Amino acid sequence: MSASNECRYNYDQSKETADWLLSRIPQKPTVAIICGSGLGGLADLVENRSVFPYKDIPYFPKSTVQGHVGQLVFGELRGKQIVCMQGRFHFYEGYNSSTVTYPVRMFFLLGVEILIVTNAAGGLNPDYNVGDIMMIKDHINMPGFAGENPLCGPNDERFGVRFPCMSDAYDKDITRLAQEAAEEQGCASFLRHGVYCMLAGPTFETIAECRALQILGADAVGMSTVPEVVVARHCGLRVFGLSLITNKVVTNYDSKERANHEEVLQTTRMRTEDLQRMVSHLVGKL
Ligand code: HPA
Repeated sequence: MSASNECRYNYDQSKETADWLLSRIPQKPTVAIICGSGLGGLADLVENRSVFPYKDIPYFPKSTVQGHVGQLVFGELRGKQIVCMQGRFHFYEGYNSSTVTYPVRMFFLLGVEILIVTNAAGGLNPDYNVGDIMMIKDHINMPGFAGENPLCGPNDERFGVRFPCMSDAYDKDITRLAQEAAEEQGCASFLRHGVYCMLAGPTFETIAECRALQILGADAVGMSTVPEVVVARHCGLRVFGLSLITNKVVTNYDSKERANHEEVLQTTRMRTEDLQRMVSHLVGKL
């Protein structure tokens, strides 16, 4: 099966991929990390690595975005067995939600218990600065409002229940540990706690859309993460999420600012080391 828009993955396919990987890695990971745009450098800190380009993994889709490498990196970080996804899948690439979330179900079948997600996001909260790191305390699933929820369709009870709770999507205990890790790593001055809103992209938001999202209570906006979190919670993984605020969204019709991908990548380059230090320190505490 190719990773086209029509296909929906089933349990057996996820299991086949998981078994394929399990037969090729020395130890099972317990933590999975999905690296956002320009944040894949975290995988370079992994020791005793086993690396699998997506194109070599059965059923795995390929990522097509600049700043995303496209490989799974297994190994050890701060004494924990982890798997890092260097490059994720997005709706705007033409993938459906089953494809976008397929790696998460596969992580579950590998034995992963904790999912850490990182992303680049635009700052909606006027108090936020470019370069801030926001711990995600909640999300708004905007594609879900329009019927694009990754759990739509028949429910496979081997993954989880039909109607999963989302009011506890982001794990409070892990967030507390992350706060500690951030403070110990000197990152407290640019740390925030806020609500992430996902839109499908690839367009950046209009001024009216940004104003609407602010009224809805979102602090940051991006084009990823929420489908993976929904599927992770469905199958019982504990989730922790971080958004790097790469730009401030435009909310003023007189502004000359224009959102662009180059600015996003530039900010990730500036903060990538802080973020990596914070996350690896957190992994050591899990
Ligand atoms: N909007 C949506 N996604 C983003 C942005 C933004 O301003 N910045 C980084 N990802």
